[in-house]
Amino acid sequence: MASVFRPAVDAMPGYTPGEQPRQQGWVKLNTNENPYPPSPAVVQAIRDTAAGALNVYPDPNATTFRTVAAELFGVTPDWVLPANGSDENLTIITRSFCDPQDTIGYPYPSYILYETLGQIQGCSVTRLLLDKHWQWTDAAAGTMRQKCKVFFVPCPNSPSGTVWTPNQLLELLPENGVLVLDEAYGDFADNPHHGELLLDERFQKRLIITRTFSKSYSLAGIRFGFCLAHPELIEGMNRVKDSYNCDAIAIAASTAALRDQEWMLNNRDRILKTRSRLVEQLARLGFDVCPGQANFVWITHPTHDHQDIYQQLRNQRILIRFMRFPHATADKQELTGLRITVGTEEQTDTLLQALQQILH
Ligand SMILES: Cc1ncc(COP(=O)(O)O)c(C=O)c1O
Repeated sequence: MASVFRPAVDAMPGYTPGEQPRQQGWVKLNTNENPYPPSPAVVQAIRDTAAGALNVYPDPNATTFRTVAAELFGVTPDWVLPANGSDENLTIITRSFCDPQDTIGYPYPSYILYETLGQIQGCSVTRLLLDKHWQWTDAAAGTMRQKCKVFFVPCPNSPSGTVWTPNQLLELLPENGVLVLDEAYGDFADNPHHGELLLDERFQKRLIITRTFSKSYSLAGIRFGFCLAHPELIEGMNRVKDSYNCDAIAIAASTAALRDQEWMLNNRDRILKTRSRLVEQLARLGFDVCPGQANFVWITHPTHDHQDIYQQLRNQRILIRFMRFPHATADKQELTGLRITVGTEEQTDTLLQALQQILH
């Protein structure tokens, strides 16, 4: 029987999210969650909302959240568009700006979901190849600018954790389209936010910054993200989103989380301290450690097999991410490596002890 799906859907493999084991007892360092709990104010806000009026629809505009976010980021609420996780912001963006004849671009290796979203939309997808220092060439950036309707760039990047300067980001602004700066890991970086670029004339009101509550705010289980952009862009994207894309509990939780900056920053500092120790110890164990600025580290080993290390850790219920990027180099070689989320001090000790045994 002929497929009833759109040809674009038939042709795409779909996105494979990281493993989420349902049993207890794992040291879970594979999907860059925060190892610390959210602010007590968040838990209280969730309780209060659950005890209140769940029989009615939530505010379709998440007005309270937008007001608090606008104040924190120094804009007005019409610069803010909340969504059900920043992945939904990315979906709203492809649906808002891309027709099937358009091209979506992204640096490679980076977040593969960008490619999936382009495929769902039936667009062409083009990869900006990164070299071993996670950089692109001027010529390749020029091609992206000409070709792409939307260019996605995560900063810090995943899996490397590396960052790019504002001038480098500017090199990627499509000539007739938008640049999406994905700051999912922004709060962990030396320069946590590029808000000033939204007002920078060189970006011509065509920059969208996306942010998530899944990482620095410890709320991956809630699903909430938002984007910041010029009100003309937000107004158009607002027409595309589902009417009630954010539920009442998520709106209350994220608003409370934003209001408790001290809690988030304290957890961030703990994670950065642990990251320094982890980086140092991994280097001692013989890994090449990429100098990143996120809540994870990207490592490769000159002699040991990456998949084997991943599997041996998994056998001990320690979950990290083995990643394989086909055609990742100029001569189309595959790149493999391990991405490890920075956990608690205790989780880090468990991981390091296990790695020591595996490598010796
Ligand atoms: C680069 C990047 N962007 C966006 C996301 C998705 O964030 P959210 O949980 O808000 O959908 C992730 C999640 O891992 C990510 O790595």
